[in-house]
Amino acid sequence: MREPAPTAWEAAYLRFETPEEELRKFLRRLRRLGAEQWPKDAQVVELFCGRGNGLNALQHLGFTRLEGVDLSPTLLANYTGTAKCVVADCRQLPFPDASRDIAIVQGGLHHLPELPGDLERVVSEVRRVLRPGGRFMVVEPWRTPFLRVVHWVGSFRVARRMWSKLDALETMTELERTTYEQWLRQPETVLRCLEGNFARERKFIGWGKLMWVGRRNAERGMRNAGLGGGTQPPTPTPTDAGVSS
Ligand SMILES: C[S@@+](CC[C@H](N)C(=O)[O-])C[C@H]1O[C@@H](n2cnc3c(N)ncnc32)[C@H](O)[C@@H]1O
Repeated sequence: MREPAPTAWEAAYLRFETPEEELRKFLRRLRRLGAEQWPKDAQVVELFCGRGNGLNALQHLGFTRLEGVDLSPTLLANYTGTAKCVVADCRQLPFPDASRDIAIVQGGLHHLPELPGDLERVVSEVRRVLRPGGRFMVVEPWRTPFLRVVHWVGSFRVARRMWSKLDALETMTELERTTYEQWLRQPETVLRCLEGNFARERKFIGWGKLMWVGRRNAERGMRNAGLGGGTQPPTPTPTDAGVSS
């Protein structure tokens, strides 16, 4: 059956980077977050996987048990690798409890319509499907000086005309404005939700991104991650110097 034509947002996403550029970007992130040391036979699920070049990067690093989840059949139809991909909503994952070792999200959480409710739903689902000790890797936009400069440059039509990648980025941003702004406005809420539910292993903030890995402890159930529960949130440090801890 033919997939529906891409929406305006999907068309901008598909032209933002070439598959080769995406592959290089995902490999860089995975290496920086320590993925080369993760067991290669781990069961890995990439959530919000889009057209699946994150899965291709994982395959490139030697991971063999790969799955992807995305809401868009049109984007998933662009994926040609060997991972098993399903169309599903990441707020309700189609996997049994404690059945996966690693969950990854790259650029998906800032699409959730309701914050913190939908974020808590996804985090709760990730906790549910991960085995004790399992890892959760998150890479999402973060308001840093670099991001402000990129959007400032993108506010000039001439810059967008001269640089098609910037035009694609600004088109996506315009079309996802509500959820994007909502996400960028609530860094403390986001970190409190992540770090209230997973023990932080790595964290970098810089170049307009949060890059983070946490591990699921043995305790069952979701902690009160949203407001007031869980462990004390660390103070986010927005800087393009690349804060790490
Ligand atoms: C910015 S794209 C990122 C795709 C991919 N991770 C990448 O970096 O190339 C966001 C993706 O999230 C998907 N998405 C949005 N809401 C979703 C949801 N509730 N459940 C699953 N996928 C969702 C969209 O279809 C889109 O493919």
